[in-house]
Amino acid sequence: MHPTYLRAVMAQWASGVVVVTTMRDGGERHGMTASSFTSVALDPPLVSVCLATDSTTCRSVRRSGVFAVNVLGHDHEDIGRRFAASGSGSNRFDVGNWSTATTGAAVLADAVAWVDCVVAACHPAGDHTIVLGLVRDAATPRPAPPLIYHDRTYYEGIAR
Ligand SMILES: Cc1cc2nc3c(=O)[nH]c(=O)nc-3n(C[C@H](O)[C@H](O)[C@H](O)COP(=O)(O)O)c2cc1C
Repeated sequence: MHPTYLRAVMAQWASGVVVVTTMRDGGERHGMTASSFTSVALDPPLVSVCLATDSTTCRSVRRSGVFAVNVLGHDHEDIGRRFAASGSGSNRFDVGNWSTATTGAAVLADAVAWVDCVVAACHPAGDHTIVLGLVRDAATPRPAPPLIYHDRTYYEGIAR
């Protein structure tokens, strides 16, 4: 299976869009756009994200042991693009109203939802790492339609 072909096939899977935030060694915040967010268990409350092992976010999540997952709203395309751009580093947080959750990870004031987690386990999976998070806190700050990603295109998830 050629990676380019598998990527094209998987691009047909529509997903929501999240920003995974964490802290770097010096305490500064870091984060990336992700679509691999999944609810795993209710008791105990577990979620997962699947992060490229060589990404700054994955390294920082492993070292800090904490992360938050921010579910983006239909009007957050600029944030989704910003947190996916390579090399944009700390200025990713220049857009959006960010505050700090219990673990120290950043949460977005007008996210559709967020969960704040401590790392429960990290499982290697090829060039990615499946990160399991134990949810310490969660909120639904804004009841709004979500941002959707399909075939490399952002959509506003408006109900029919
Ligand atoms: C819609 C979308 C979803 C993405 N989902 C993931 C994901 O689930 N896991 C991942 O490792 N990268 C994902 N990416 C790519 C990262 O956002 C991108 O590589 C980012 O620059 C990594 O930042 P970092 O190296 O500073 O951690 C996604 C990108 C986009 C646009």
